[in-house]
Amino acid sequence: MVAGRISTGVPGLDVMLHGGLIPGRVYLVKGSPGTGKTTLAMHFAMAGVANGESVLYITLEEPAENIREDFGRMGFDVYHEDFTLIDATPTTEHYVLVEDFFETFAKNLNKLTESIKEQFRVRRYSRVVVDPITMLKLATKDEIDYRRAFLTFVKSMMRLKVTVLITSELERTDIEEYLVSGVIEMKLLERDGKLMRAIKVTKFRGSGFDNVIRPYEITETGMVVHPDRTVP
Ligand SMILES: Nc1ncnc2c1ncn2[C@@H]1O[C@H](COP(=O)(O)OP(=O)(O)OP(=O)(O)O)[C@@H](O)[C@H]1O
Ligand SMILES: [Mg+2]
Repeated sequence: MVAGRISTGVPGLDVMLHGGLIPGRVYLVKGSPGTGKTTLAMHFAMAGVANGESVLYITLEEPAENIREDFGRMGFDVYHEDFTLIDATPTTEHYVLVEDFFETFAKNLNKLTESIKEQFRVRRYSRVVVDPITMLKLATKDEIDYRRAFLTFVKSMMRLKVTVLITSELERTDIEEYLVSGVIEMKLLERDGKLMRAIKVTKFRGSGFDNVIRPYEITETGMVVHPDRTVP
């Protein structure tokens, strides 16, 4: 690993980032449906676990059991004790006598920030994933309120010295891009009647980065980025 950097869990992407992410900052992964945002987030989480770190993963749209099933099959250690998966998807099962993580984590962005800080009182995490942030944005009517809440989120995470990866849908992403330290965009392109996956880094504060759009694949063991190839 390059000094002062941490791995995204995807070696080819680390190359594009000139050695990996700068820790203690907030990064945004954006892409249309099915591009692999959750897959990349899972690589990022598991790279932390493999490094002996504690990781907090908050899922807001895909139920935790689906994540465990799909990514467990890909070979990710989804039951590792250093991997805390919080299911903050909406639930209608109000008779269930467990903590309602939707209410605490997904009600709005300020609640998410507070709930993450609360988790840090129990355990120190060095990586946090919020997948995806989209719902929280839709939950805020006022653009200014959202911007303020997002800035508070970013500042709070930096104060906790945690590296955060948030995912978002392409069309729903705007002001977040200005406020985070880095942006990675994943795309599906059409080439010769076939769908092709392509990834690019569009922003990375404090570092140079590969400014070429690169092909990637999703295989049965996860995501593979080809930093030495170009998109035809
Ligand atoms: N074994 C596999 N081989 C090839 N592709 C796979 C495999 N398993 C999953 N995929 C692909 O990975 C993609 C799903 O990735 P992922 O769930 O990370 O995307 P996403 O961007 O998070 O999607 P969403 O917007 O729905 O949350 C799908 O397009 C799926 O076809
Ligand atoms: Mg997803």
